[in-house]
Amino acid sequence: MKNIMNTMFFIFPLFFEASKAAIAFPACPKCGDLEVPFPLSTNGNCGDSRYKVYCRHGILQFKSSGGFYYNVHSIDANASKLIISPPQINKGSCSSSDLYLGGLRLDESLPFNISTHNTVMLLNCSDNLVFSPLNCSLNSPCRQFEEKTEEANGCKDTLCCTYLKDSAMTAHMIRVRVGGCTAYTSVVNFKGGDSIETWNYGIELQWISPN
Ligand SMILES: *[C@@H]1O[C@H](CO)[C@@H](O)[C@H](O)[C@H]1NC(C)=O
Ligand SMILES: *[C@@H]1O[C@H](CO)[C@@H](O)[C@H](O)[C@H]1NC(C)=O
Ligand SMILES: *[C@@H]1O[C@H](CO)[C@@H](O)[C@H](O)[C@H]1NC(C)=O
Ligand SMILES: *[C@@H]1O[C@H](CO)[C@@H](O)[C@H](O)[C@H]1NC(C)=O
Repeated sequence: MKNIMNTMFFIFPLFFEASKAAIAFPACPKCGDLEVPFPLSTNGNCGDSRYKVYCRHGILQFKSSGGFYYNVHSIDANASKLIISPPQINKGSCSSSDLYLGGLRLDESLPFNISTHNTVMLLNCSDNLVFSPLNCSLNSPCRQFEEKTEEANGCKDTLCCTYLKDSAMTAHMIRVRVGGCTAYTSVVNFKGGDSIETWNYGIELQWISPN
């Protein structure tokens, strides 16, 4: 009896490991016009379930730890990267639609993080935010965003700050809050001097490749 029990304890984990490996996961079907490459997974039958994304009404979305859905704008599977759209700024105000959740937060137990190619622009900031490495000067790039886009119109004449989200900062969060900054956007691979018409709005995430 003792022997059988030992054997069972030995076999069961093996069995589960084997059954996991035996399922050859195909890539997921397209979501709207967007290919969903492996390991991204829109359902239990495709991709790798740790890399969960959502196909809702033909729009591919990434869910934050707070439960906010960000539209996926593009995917580069070779580079293990995807770009999500920054949240809308609510019309007639200067608050990002994810403000009530404190901005973007990624679940740290998932294999995604925020890459170092994002230039974040924080809007309607309180005075105590004026410190390095944020660029809150009058010619900070975020000023152009406030002045030249309809979306950020409600943020005009407030304090705004721009910074490159580099590796010295948390890779799991872009924070906004009432009393801090209440709205934000992000531009991928921003270069000073680029005219605003060429800005690539988005938040680039990267994932650890499976296995
Ligand atoms: C990804 O890499 C493969 C193999 O190197 C290549 O054939 C393919 O064109 C690449 N895809 C993209 C979108 O760059
Ligand atoms: C802020 O950004 C502007 C425009 O890129 C630049 O000219 C300026 O030197 C920057 N200021 C600081 C303090 O980094
Ligand atoms: C700017 O932020 C303050 C608090 O930080 C908030 O009370 C105010 O409503 C915000 N302004 C706009 C236009 O949303
Ligand atoms: C984010 O994830 C990538 C891929 O796993 C890793 O190379 C990078 O160091 C991570 N960045 C941070 C700041 O944790």
